[in-house]
Amino acid sequence: MQNITTNLKKLFYFWKRSQVPKKQQSKISKIDNLIIFLICILISIISSYKFLLLSPSNASAIYDWLLNFSEVLVICWILILVSKKELPTITSRQIILIISLLLIVQFTKLTSISSISPLSMFVPPALIISQGMGSITALAWVSIASLNWPESAISPNNTLFFISIVCASVVSVLGGRIRSRAQLLQLSIFVPLGALLSQWILIGGDQSSFLGKQELVFSNSKIFSDSLLLAIIMLFTILFMPIFESIFGLLTKARLLELADKEKPLIRRLSIEAPGTFEHTLLICCLAEEATRMIGGDIDLIKTGALYHDIGKLHAPNWFIENQDGSKNPHDEIDDPIKSAYVLQAHVDEGLKYARKNRLPKPIANFIPEHQGSLKMGYFFYKAKEKNLNVNESDFRYKGPIPQSKETAILMLADGCEAALRAMNIKASDIEALETISKIIRSRQKDGQLDDSDLSMGEIFLIKRAFLNVWKRIRHRRIQYPTSKNNTFS
Ligand SMILES: [Fe+2]
Ligand SMILES: [Fe+2]
Repeated sequence: MQNITTNLKKLFYFWKRSQVPKKQQSKISKIDNLIIFLICILISIISSYKFLLLSPSNASAIYDWLLNFSEVLVICWILILVSKKELPTITSRQIILIISLLLIVQFTKLTSISSISPLSMFVPPALIISQGMGSITALAWVSIASLNWPESAISPNNTLFFISIVCASVVSVLGGRIRSRAQLLQLSIFVPLGALLSQWILIGGDQSSFLGKQELVFSNSKIFSDSLLLAIIMLFTILFMPIFESIFGLLTKARLLELADKEKPLIRRLSIEAPGTFEHTLLICCLAEEATRMIGGDIDLIKTGALYHDIGKLHAPNWFIENQDGSKNPHDEIDDPIKSAYVLQAHVDEGLKYARKNRLPKPIANFIPEHQGSLKMGYFFYKAKEKNLNVNESDFRYKGPIPQSKETAILMLADGCEAALRAMNIKASDIEALETISKIIRSRQKDGQLDDSDLSMGEIFLIKRAFLNVWKRIRHRRIQYPTSKNNTFS
């Protein structure tokens, strides 16, 4: 009986440890909340005012209006909830963008209902939302925009409405995965083409038996102009995407890949002025990428974030051991642990300044302070203690914050393990390497650095295995292969 209780306790303990803590959502100011609420009210009014126009004094009309009004308000709220759930770090500007697109659709419908097809109204917003905020939010937007489409919208015909929803859903799914502007351009050609063909097959065929020759020509030219308009709007959306990215802080895959280009001036400067830090960054990229792949995180985000995490070291490259190249260590020369700790903290503060100056998106800039979290600068703290200086431990800790996402937490762990793995003997066994990795990760855990990161115990286990795999690859590269006597290879 006691055995069962102990086992149950153990099971409960492991279950509890494996639970992912609830992700904290970004805070939205009162003014932004008010703006969002007002836009939702406006959408509800536009969607439901027709009920009052029919018979304003009729009680059942008022009841219908009230019902429709609250219905639309609730679905706007659901849309906001879905977007917050999919992207917990969503900002108020991005929420305003999502519901403003809904408002634009409602408004355009009101003013030019018969001239613009739902195809051109659903697909481009779906592309923007899926690129910036993910496929689920885009799909939710498409379903809500189509649910909120009044009866008059069916006027073009039900088939066109159905084709529009299918095209917008396809764009929502693909838009969240697309990784380059070239693929976006392909999408802006193939989706209108697909819409044109399906309209010809489904609508053109249906109408040919009922319409006269002249009406058929008109119908076909309408189908063609609808698809052409869609292609033009999609091309303009792609053209203006960098402006959307900058105004609403959207971080698209294409933008991430552009930032990860090693020819970017800031990265080039790092490779020239701080080559040791650049090498360290490249190895961290490998460790972090492998670990993120293992746990199913955002690989493009961590690869780019890792490239910029130590960019602040550019302010004083020779103060960091990896760039000293055997020359004198400035820390030894000043022999002041407090000043040394100040220089170390400065690599975070200066990094954030570089990020602002180079307009790095916030999710990338977050890697700069979060990779150091509130870690202790142990070496200088003990040096200060040795010198009997009256110092607090908090003076020798980075200012934080501790990692707020899985990706920044992985980078912190990779940063900690990189030097230790690089320094390991090539003859060391896998178990020894795994022990080193586990020791470093355990110390970060005990220090509370991973508390806000969402990483479960299972994920930490996978991260350790990923780091070990990368180390095995590096060790393999460092092993000297025997060369033939006359140095020729077959
Ligand atoms: Fe750092
Ligand atoms: Fe680093």
